[in-house]
Amino acid sequence: MPVIPVPGRDHTWAALTPATAYVFGVESGDDTRVVQHYWGPRLPGAALGEVADAVPAWIATGFLDPADAAELLPVDGGRRWGVPSLQAVYPGGVRSVELAFDRAVQHGPDELELVLRDQVYGLCVGLRVRVHDDTDVIERWTEVANDSGEPVHLQRLDSGAWAVPEQAGFGYAGVAGGWARETQLHRGELPPGETTFTSRTGTTSHKANPWIMIGDASETGGEVWSVALAWSGSWRLTAQRRPEGDLAVTAGFGHEGLTWPLAPGGSLRTPSVLGLHTTGGYGAASRAWHAYARGHVLPTPAEERPVLYNSWEATGFDVSEDGQLALARRAAELGVELFVVDDGWFGTRTDDTRGLGDWWPNPDRFPQGLGKLFDGVRELGMQAGLWVEPEMVNPDSDLYREHPGWTLHYPGRRRDTMRHQLVLNFARDDVRAWALGWLDGLVAEYGLAYLKWDMNRSFSQAGWAEGGDLLWIEHTRGVYAVMDELRARHPGLRIESCSGGGGRADFGILRRTDQVWTSDNTDARHRQTIQEGFSYLYPASAMSCWVTDSPNPITGREVPLRYRFHVAMAGTLGIGGDLARWSEAELAEARELVAAYKAVRPVVQHGELHRLTGSPGTSASAVQYTLGERVVVFAYNPYTLDERPPRRLRLAGLDPEALYEDEAGVRRHGAALMHHGLVVPSWSLSGTDYRSEMLVLRRVEGRS
Ligand code: DGJ
Repeated sequence: MPVIPVPGRDHTWAALTPATAYVFGVESGDDTRVVQHYWGPRLPGAALGEVADAVPAWIATGFLDPADAAELLPVDGGRRWGVPSLQAVYPGGVRSVELAFDRAVQHGPDELELVLRDQVYGLCVGLRVRVHDDTDVIERWTEVANDSGEPVHLQRLDSGAWAVPEQAGFGYAGVAGGWARETQLHRGELPPGETTFTSRTGTTSHKANPWIMIGDASETGGEVWSVALAWSGSWRLTAQRRPEGDLAVTAGFGHEGLTWPLAPGGSLRTPSVLGLHTTGGYGAASRAWHAYARGHVLPTPAEERPVLYNSWEATGFDVSEDGQLALARRAAELGVELFVVDDGWFGTRTDDTRGLGDWWPNPDRFPQGLGKLFDGVRELGMQAGLWVEPEMVNPDSDLYREHPGWTLHYPGRRRDTMRHQLVLNFARDDVRAWALGWLDGLVAEYGLAYLKWDMNRSFSQAGWAEGGDLLWIEHTRGVYAVMDELRARHPGLRIESCSGGGGRADFGILRRTDQVWTSDNTDARHRQTIQEGFSYLYPASAMSCWVTDSPNPITGREVPLRYRFHVAMAGTLGIGGDLARWSEAELAEARELVAAYKAVRPVVQHGELHRLTGSPGTSASAVQYTLGERVVVFAYNPYTLDERPPRRLRLAGLDPEALYEDEAGVRRHGAALMHHGLVVPSWSLSGTDYRSEMLVLRRVEGRS
């Protein structure tokens, strides 16, 4: 699908995707603006020119210019009073950016660049728009270059702004949360004013996730306009709803208060901001994002993610060869395919106060190295994985004693620790070279198939003598670069993104990681709400879910093994409990459930998700995955009826004419399953708390 000039209109283009059109153009005058004319369902070619009209003024006053809410990159300058996407300070403290259209450059049929220039101060701005032929996601980013002989200081450089057409309520969906309660879904009406989702932590953060969906839609119906940012450092996304009726979303890296110097000849490119228009409600929007993730983001989307075991909740820092091998034997018996040794294997790391940075096997615990442990793991038929936290250092470590200057710091300021650790500056070449060196060595020496890459604190005192505030960009890029190079050197290596749970989940990190540790909270009930929010943008294959012990180590809640499994089986299944303490009956049930998961794994990990009903974790609820002829449904009932669940569960996305057969051999039409529904035993009145089931159906030959 191309980006094409709109016939009969000067300086106007349409970015066409399979089902949508995005029409924009240059409005010249004393103040050039590149404005969005249209973003919505695909239009006939001849109609593209009809939507490219001037932004109508609701009322003409001396206080507002309606066009700035429609600009692709509203600058801080001229007659604009909205949230700027680009703010620059020129020599002498001159503000008010004034750009004039220079040229349009087609980079192949699917990508267009509009070049704008400041006629006086030499700032050159490139607005990029790219489409693909298999998705309605439109990728945009901005590149700026300083063509002058003087430095320019950028105080804001967003990837781009998107205008959302007027609607009655401006409903929205987004997620917010904290550690152990990531991706809590928020749905409501955007208030007039500016609603900002942001992270100032240096990572994507637990507090919010860089996306928003807007539309007066339900789960199954209505138009939704989504905007997502592919970035893993600090970020800001602001939706401004004006009383005049306009709504614009601008998103970019960095947070307010930072200044990025652009030296003469220097340039800066933003990460991509992604826009997606869909019909069919929030559910269809999620499915379109999942397809985009599989088609254009994830490095290994066709693979099935293995069932892993992780030792963290079982052993904490108490890691030993015998202890890990004992767990590995039990894990292998359950059908686990990948055994991951978590924190505590290296340096003097026997608790969280010391050793981070000293990435060699703890000489007391592993005097011969990790070879025997991982050979043992492989002999049991599993792949080997290891936890690392490359961006961190404990002050009590050989690394810090040798290189105190490698951490983020300012002269004359404290170096505040959190979890007894400081952040290493991955913007520095020497730090990245050091990290790549030992990571490469570990993966090669131990034949590692998997790294869990953790990151356990927010930035503070984030000074970088050489680059100033560019640290907030270059650290993240440095992490990306090390991961990319490591994967290039070890094509079989898979990486899990972790940041104290789900603190770094986004389309930037998912380009170089295969899955995300969704949350440190493994309480099945809490997990359901966390997983629901995660599922809005990211597919189940990227959502790591472990079954752990009951009572849960964080919340103390007791939940039956089956329910814990069914919650974890709705994503990429792992086990993180202390298997030494599981009874024979529990181990037998776990073995059965792991086998059941493997049988449906392609459907869950690669299928289309339908959030069927209910508030996951707080009421009866169900999710469905469909892949080809196969359908898998997980139904949950956390409580004995506080509220009456639906009498029947109605499925979605089936072929109404086709017959579907369940595991008992009962056949029903897709139409009956969707419009009448199934009786779910665990939703009946009688029973205990925490009942759940997995229903498997297959579309069979023969139609009525
Ligand atoms: C935080 C992670 O989220 C946990 O799973 C575990 O790896 C610990 N760090 C180890 O320190």
